[in-house]
Amino acid sequence: MNDLKSVAVSVLRAFRPEAVLVLGSGLGALAERVQQAVRRPATDIPGVAAASIAGHTGELICGTLAGVRVALLSGRTHVYEGHALQTVVRAVRVLLAVQPKLLVLTNAAGSIQRDMKPGDLMLIADHLNLSGGSPLEGPHTADCGERFPDMSRIYPAAVRNCVRRVADARGLLLREGVYAMLRGPQYETPAEVRMLRILGADAVGMSTVPEAIVAAQMRIPVLGISMLTNLAAGVSRLPLSHKEVLECGLVAGNTLADLIEHSLRDAVTATEASV
Ligand code: HPA
Repeated sequence: MNDLKSVAVSVLRAFRPEAVLVLGSGLGALAERVQQAVRRPATDIPGVAAASIAGHTGELICGTLAGVRVALLSGRTHVYEGHALQTVVRAVRVLLAVQPKLLVLTNAAGSIQRDMKPGDLMLIADHLNLSGGSPLEGPHTADCGERFPDMSRIYPAAVRNCVRRVADARGLLLREGVYAMLRGPQYETPAEVRMLRILGADAVGMSTVPEAIVAAQMRIPVLGISMLTNLAAGVSRLPLSHKEVLECGLVAGNTLADLIEHSLRDAVTATEASV
């Protein structure tokens, strides 16, 4: 972790981001709203792999959003690109080393519940790590956080409530549920989706959980929001496609950007009460 600290200290400590944000597939609208933005390729952070997926631009953008100092990753890497979980979380680990108050994770996800429709937004209340591993595996140093960290309060209700208040004020339907991460890259079979429903999942995707686990270890509260881009396999009879995911992101991405922009200040403040 020493090398991470030195990068974080030299590049980001002076800037002191209050919130770190990671944008999922096709959800780039928020990146355009950052003021006084300084943009660098995310690969400038040593050890960070290049994002290779359409809809992920892979930039680190520092600036302000609604008056909050933010460091925003406009894309992420995934296990299905062939990266180890430890590599997938590398950029987030570096950014969290400067102790922001909040990590905001967004993703595109398939809806497991028939009444949650494409275009709906879902606050992540909890997750299922079905990646088959942990980003915390391997050597451990105390400055990463605990060896066996608690995972029971990753997504504090106080933070979710800030977003809910903004959604309610705007008459925006905001779902809440459990996000399950599978490795992908193939979408699920209908049988797998039935299994996920029995396990208690409401949405399924291929990201977010590794970053949330690292944040929990580093004791940084997480605001997680899924954009439901499609009904998961078998929930709808239609075949799934990445194109559909990206198109939905383009349409609903602005709504998500509005929601985050208007709740960010309160959400950052609410973390002080939640830790
Ligand atoms: N499954 C997994 N990942 C996804 C989906 C899905 O249905 N939609 C968007 N990302």
